[in-house]
Amino acid sequence: MGKKFTRRDFIKATAVAGVAAYTLRDLSSFNTMASPGFSGEPVVISTWEHGMAANEAAMKVLSSGGSSLDAVEKGVNVSESDPEVMSVGYGGRPDENGTVTLDASIMGPDGNAGAVAFLQNIKNPISVARKVMEETDHVMLVGEGALRFAKAHGFKEEDLLTDKARETWLRWKQGMSDDDDWLPPREDHDTIGMVAIDAEGNLSGACTTSGLAYKIHGRVGDSPLIGAGMYVDNEVGAAAATGKGEEVIKVCGSFLVVENMRHGMSPQEACEEAVERIIKRHKGKPDFQDAFIALNKKGEYGAAAIQQGFQYALYFKGENTLNNGNFLMEE
Ligand code: GLY
Repeated sequence: MGKKFTRRDFIKATAVAGVAAYTLRDLSSFNTMASPGFSGEPVVISTWEHGMAANEAAMKVLSSGGSSLDAVEKGVNVSESDPEVMSVGYGGRPDENGTVTLDASIMGPDGNAGAVAFLQNIKNPISVARKVMEETDHVMLVGEGALRFAKAHGFKEEDLLTDKARETWLRWKQGMSDDDDWLPPREDHDTIGMVAIDAEGNLSGACTTSGLAYKIHGRVGDSPLIGAGMYVDNEVGAAAATGKGEEVIKVCGSFLVVENMRHGMSPQEACEEAVERIIKRHKGKPDFQDAFIALNKKGEYGAAAIQQGFQYALYFKGENTLNNGNFLMEE
């Protein structure tokens, strides 16, 4: 691994480039998150407020002795099936054409992985991704092929565009200027990423999303890309990402977080370093949000975001809590 980009380097770089409108926060006080060694007690961490209900479903699996792989699938199924969660699965915001297209990936402790991208008309893409992992020797299926595969495995085809999502899309279309090529408003990509450790100490991860609202038809983000939106190495740890997928892809974000843990960082440090990489690529002035969550083999957790506003749900020591993520940039 190359020299770690320190906060001092960052401040120097932004001062030289004259882009010091944002400053890096002093996070020393945040790095003391209590993370005891793995006690055999399962832990689940997931992104955003909708992670709370997803965590409950995941912990139900884990507390009855189930595997982390079953837990992450059943957990994120909750967000996928909830029409009020407008960034994942059924009820997700559509692309520029008004079509809901879904991306998802799953990875288990054996290092096997499955993913689907640009999948339409199937409510639970994570379960299709799991079928790809378990029933084929492929990792990813996309578009029409993914849909055919899903139907062949008994998934029901259904319209995923709810009235609420259609209305937001129509409002977006009305707000577009004739002079613009493609100018979406800034929307959070509130993907659900979840990583979990079960009673046996095995790690799994899942990530599922409808992606960027009103995206160009055919756009695929980080969520279905193994190592970008989510990654698991059962010897080391697991990580997942949310936010602007393009930027997570460019740093192989979740793989980077896991590699950081492999080289000795705590999950918190590992997430922060990955966020710093993205900030550095944008010369200290990112105008978007990205965030990472992570767990290591001991059941220690971490979470970090570029900007204020990121929340994560943590099921730890018998309690499911919604937490504000540490953020590295402030105006
Ligand atoms: N992080 C989700 C996406 O950009 O599609």
